[in-house]
Amino acid sequence: MSNSCKKSYITTPIYYVNDVPHIGHAYTTIIADTLAIYSRMVGYDTFFLTGTDEHGQKIEQAAKQRGKTPQEYADEISSKFKQLWDYFDISYDKFIRTTDEEHKKGVQVAFEKMLQNGDIYKGTYKGNYCISCETFFTDTQIVDGGFCPDCGKETSIVEEESYFFKLSKYQERLLAWYKENEKCIIPKTRRNEVIRFVEAGLEDLSITRTSFDWGVKLPKSVNDPKHVIYVWLDALMNYLTALGYGTGEEKMDYWPAKVHLIGKDILRFHAIFWPAFLMSLELPLPDHIAAHGWWTRNGEKMSKSKGNVINPKEVADAYGLENFRYFMLREVPFGGDGDFSQKALIDRINSDLGNDLGNLLNRLIGMSSKYSEGKVSSQNVTKYFKEELEEIQRSFEKLEPLLFDMQLHRYLEELWRPLGIANKAIDKYQPWKLMKEGKEEEALALNGLIANILAKVAIMLHPVMPKTTNKIAKALQFTIGVESYKSFVKENSLLDDFTITKIPPLFPRIEEQLLKEPEAPKKESKEKKEQSAGVITIDQFFQTELKIGTIIEAKEVQKSKKLLKLKVDLGEEQPRQIIAGIKEWYKPEDLVGTQACVVANLKPAKIMGMLSEGMLLAAKDENGLSLLRPETPKVAGTKVS
Ligand code: MSP
Repeated sequence: MSNSCKKSYITTPIYYVNDVPHIGHAYTTIIADTLAIYSRMVGYDTFFLTGTDEHGQKIEQAAKQRGKTPQEYADEISSKFKQLWDYFDISYDKFIRTTDEEHKKGVQVAFEKMLQNGDIYKGTYKGNYCISCETFFTDTQIVDGGFCPDCGKETSIVEEESYFFKLSKYQERLLAWYKENEKCIIPKTRRNEVIRFVEAGLEDLSITRTSFDWGVKLPKSVNDPKHVIYVWLDALMNYLTALGYGTGEEKMDYWPAKVHLIGKDILRFHAIFWPAFLMSLELPLPDHIAAHGWWTRNGEKMSKSKGNVINPKEVADAYGLENFRYFMLREVPFGGDGDFSQKALIDRINSDLGNDLGNLLNRLIGMSSKYSEGKVSSQNVTKYFKEELEEIQRSFEKLEPLLFDMQLHRYLEELWRPLGIANKAIDKYQPWKLMKEGKEEEALALNGLIANILAKVAIMLHPVMPKTTNKIAKALQFTIGVESYKSFVKENSLLDDFTITKIPPLFPRIEEQLLKEPEAPKKESKEKKEQSAGVITIDQFFQTELKIGTIIEAKEVQKSKKLLKLKVDLGEEQPRQIIAGIKEWYKPEDLVGTQACVVANLKPAKIMGMLSEGMLLAAKDENGLSLLRPETPKVAGTKVS
């Protein structure tokens, strides 16, 4: 963290309102929340922003499909995101919506400023457009001649008048920024990826659309009402408009952002377009753009059609919100993809949280109640456990830089080291033995050591598990906040003497999966499968009435090369008239008196104005056509089965 700035502005992406919140959204938000809580705890003036991205063709279409106006639809889904974050106690300071008036105004002000700075010009755009990603792709980028390289959906060729942003002008300045700021894009591999992309050359960016309406209009001064601003320019600007850019600037002193937290799929927009827009607006660039990986479920990509999308609320309700937070941050190295399985979640809860942390507190409660009526003192800790204290201190020193480097899993791993030291110390010194041997002072000092370790760990774990750690702090009679962080973590002070408060176990053991696994995609019923493979039942076969007919008359149809008009006796009162396309292979006179197999229950149809009341069965190959006939004469009207 650069100390030059005591402000800390943390953002999540603003979520599209074309889908309800899922685990991927929760992951981004939970990481950002963790950083925000940490940031406040270490004394930074913090502003944490989240919100929803509501414009664009994708939203317009989604609304239409549901028979709603885009605004109605956006209101509905946006509130689902807000409700979930409130339910999750996410500590955001502002929830922005791109349909907010101030935001729209701010976007227009930015457009004007870029125009004044000579960075916007008018032209024509023709390209492969993916509506789903709201992005144009070049011919070399699209896959299999027309599919989006990002989401795989079909792109369409769009040609329209457009305003362009001179992205190419910023290529060198962008490269300089990446190279001079090692941590501007985290992880490093992503930074290298972006550098390679930019080095390959940047084209100017189309930043307006005329093909739909649902977006921010160009500023009045431009006087070009058919254009709306490209959703990504509109969306990225939320990071500034939330601070009052263009409408009062009341919070602009939070700029530049400490970190824009994003998923890897939206890196290009944040790492290339966004800094270029900021350069054009003559504003400083963010400290970090941090891109996390994707979550899969049991090894598979999540999708609505597979029915395996994880509802974060369900998981939090079943396993505990803070356990879920811990799991997400601990399980996957930041930047890598992670797999969600209930088994992995249960293992983390039972092992890391239950065994290592929860049991340690229980043991302390048990031992201090037994040996000292719950009294815990730090008095002789340094005397007996100097080495352990120093080791712990070294561990805590390593922790600090890890969070804003987004090494969240390593942060938690490192934080578990002191717990390991405490648990080991109990096994090594065996306080019950010390008590028996009359070494009470040492045994109580050991309790003091454990209490201090738990207190320090609780403080540093607080950003990940705020309520749980407050419970630990309550048991140990202190409060987590800026003060305790400073004194116990920064200055290595020890707890004042206190009497422990008994609390129920924090992490009851979980023995079995608490959520039903998604059913495997429904197998087609056997019948359905057979049907689609062209198999029919006997009943279905007998729906076709086949009969032997005797041809009693055959005539050519005038002006037709193919048709013959036949009278066929099916043993009914009247012979049927059948128009058959067999003229190329049969002479009328050769047919009379012969028999053929007839489909007798076909709906009569008119062929060249003549009624046809059945169909003759025939087989045709390269040698010609043959009517299907009985081997020996049959009574007219005999059923074929
Ligand atoms: N609206 C844009 C962001 C504009 S920011 C100026 C957007 N929205 S989104 O709703 O599609 O995605 C928001 C975030 O959710 C992204 O960071 C994305 O990476 C993340 N995730 C969506 N699905 C995900 C997983 N399955 N796993 C992890 N995160 C993923 O993009």
